[in-house]
Amino acid sequence: MNMHLTLIGIGTGNPEHLTLQAIRAINEQDLILIPHKGEGKADLAELRRAICDEVLTNTATKIVEFDLPVRDENTADYRKRVDDWHDAIALTWRSAMAANPGAKKVALLVWGDPSLYDSTLRIAARLDPAPTLDVIPGITSLHALTAAHAIPVNDIGAPFLVTTGRRLRDEGWPAGVDTVVVMLDGACAFQSLPSENLHIWWGGYVGMKEQIICEGPVADVGEKIVAMRAEARAHHGWIMDIYILRKLP
Ligand SMILES: C[S@@+](CC[C@H](N)C(=O)[O-])C[C@H]1O[C@@H](n2cnc3c(N)ncnc32)[C@H](O)[C@@H]1O
Repeated sequence: MNMHLTLIGIGTGNPEHLTLQAIRAINEQDLILIPHKGEGKADLAELRRAICDEVLTNTATKIVEFDLPVRDENTADYRKRVDDWHDAIALTWRSAMAANPGAKKVALLVWGDPSLYDSTLRIAARLDPAPTLDVIPGITSLHALTAAHAIPVNDIGAPFLVTTGRRLRDEGWPAGVDTVVVMLDGACAFQSLPSENLHIWWGGYVGMKEQIICEGPVADVGEKIVAMRAEARAHHGWIMDIYILRKLP
């Protein structure tokens, strides 16, 4: 029998984000693989384990942790760096699976939803032989953010764009939209934009018990967010944050 792989969106760190579909899928597995990212991000492996502790009632399901390969930051070409890294992760999955040959149903718990700034699906596509595949959707950090601020992400009938901190900093405000969602930003890229008429809804650890949020005109709250972020990062040893920027008339 071929292996069946399930990628389970688990939401953004709050066990209550798990859908009934996710809980059922977790309990149907022979093997759940949990990546270990190293010291600073240990909380995420711990959180995945805590989620399993809370909802896993199938005693036959085995949980195996594996070390994520480290990305080679010396390769100049960014795409090649990422491709090589994904190849290496696929090999690590393969050896974890080979070490558990009886496991036909294997799952990974994906932060948020597997479709949003996540490469688990791209890594799964590298497996040879290809497993059959299921995806269970999860609550994204964008939705945890909009819920935390109780706001809609778009204006009436208007588009929005999701981008990274790096792109916002390097390329400026994207054309054609008044609303931008920014993820993967290690350095508060909103500071690189003219702050006039720019409103921000920011959140760190959204959906989690550590959640912190701040909202207002960038001119008024920008520096406060930079300070809040630095303080929280120093306190917890890591941070994940996301924000929405909107140009107001
Ligand atoms: C690799 S992406 C994964 C996104 C995830 N697949 C999702 O659906 O939200 C990581 C980025 O998601 C955002 N993020 C994820 N979880 C978050 C959280 N609990 N609070 C704030 N931002 C979060 C941050 O922008 C972080 O840099």
